Amino acid sequence: MSTLLITGIGELTTNVTGLGDDPRDPTGLIRGAALAVVDGRVAWVGRGTEEPRLDAPQTGATPEVEVVDAGGRAILPGFVDSHTHLVFAGDRADEFEARMAGQPYAAGGIRRTVAATRAASDDELRARLAGLAAELYAQGTTTFEVKTGYDLTVEGEARLARLAREVTDEVTFLGAHVVPAEFVDDRAAYVDLVCGPMLAAVGPYVRWIDVFCERGAFTAEETRRILRGGAAAGLGTRLHGNQLGHGPGARIAAELGVFSLDHATYLHPDDVARLAEAGVVTTLLPGVEFSTRHPYPDARRLIDAGVTVALASDCNPGTSFTSSMPLMIALAVREMGMTVAEAVWAATAGGARALDRDDVGTLALGTRADLVMLDAPTRTHLAYRPGVPLVRAVYRGGELIV
Ligand code: NIG
Ligand code: FE
Repeated sequence: MSTLLITGIGELTTNVTGLGDDPRDPTGLIRGAALAVVDGRVAWVGRGTEEPRLDAPQTGATPEVEVVDAGGRAILPGFVDSHTHLVFAGDRADEFEARMAGQPYAAGGIRRTVAATRAASDDELRARLAGLAAELYAQGTTTFEVKTGYDLTVEGEARLARLAREVTDEVTFLGAHVVPAEFVDDRAAYVDLVCGPMLAAVGPYVRWIDVFCERGAFTAEETRRILRGGAAAGLGTRLHGNQLGHGPGARIAAELGVFSLDHATYLHPDDVARLAEAGVVTTLLPGVEFSTRHPYPDARRLIDAGVTVALASDCNPGTSFTSSMPLMIALAVREMGMTVAEAVWAATAGGARALDRDDVGTLALGTRADLVMLDAPTRTHLAYRPGVPLVRAVYRGGELIV
């Protein structure tokens, strides 16, 4: 049995309502806290002066306790990045540069990354994935989802899913990312391929299915067909929609009851009402608006309507080549009307909701001990000191990984 006791925590975000200094605070913030971890799980959370009560089974042996003094620093749950596209080759820095000089973003750019990814070996893709995963961990992310979608052939999508599965359990099949060049004259045949042989080939590796429902990508009818096919095969459903303009994504998300609608930048008031009523998590990806110069989504309007909001990086070479959850928090607070508490919740517990996980994103008895120690006294510094590497230590399952 291994026990880790962290004392001297300046403020601890637990995301457990009722546990914090203010019993109504959904982030369960405790000022002056301590926390114990036994065998990789949270075993005790207390106030600074309390003695730990470890409800561990009696083994007869004295447990080895490692004590870490946080020195007044803030600790929060590891970030849960519920939306990334980390399996790809090449980059599109030239496209970004042209966009900053006035070119608009178009979904078709995805095909360039598809060509580079198809040409890359397994080991090249593995090396890229490992590098990006290390980048995420170093910035405090302890759980992340990865989508396929940069090959768009049956064997190729299965290969990307298999490689993604080497770094995470949260793999999403995104064969419906864009219609590949070889099928532009027969879209229906491509949709058949996605719903049939491709879905079967990725099956062993994936938990989720996603569709890019947008002008230039997939239509409302194609989206419904693909998501229904995935659900029938036992996958959870999620949706890219309302990213580049108003469209049917939000309506379909509510109608099919997907786990998460992602992007949701362009929403009509009735879209917001539908998302709230259907209880669809809405995942906002402000790295995209940063890198495409679209207006930021209005998180305030969603939260005020009762929608559960998550934040994720959407790390991908086209629209958001950043893996930084602290940057998402800073953008959400500065540009999207979220309070610091809401943004931190959305980047941790919100991401966990978007992935239907209750073992991560909160620090409650029995959850996985995934936590980030900041080199700062409060979580507010994540937004207050944008661009500064504030992550001092990261624990995943109780193990120090950064
Ligand atoms: O989430 N929206 C669709 N997919 C990505 C963009 C992918 C790309 O441009 O390569 C996104 O923004
Ligand atoms: Fe995306």
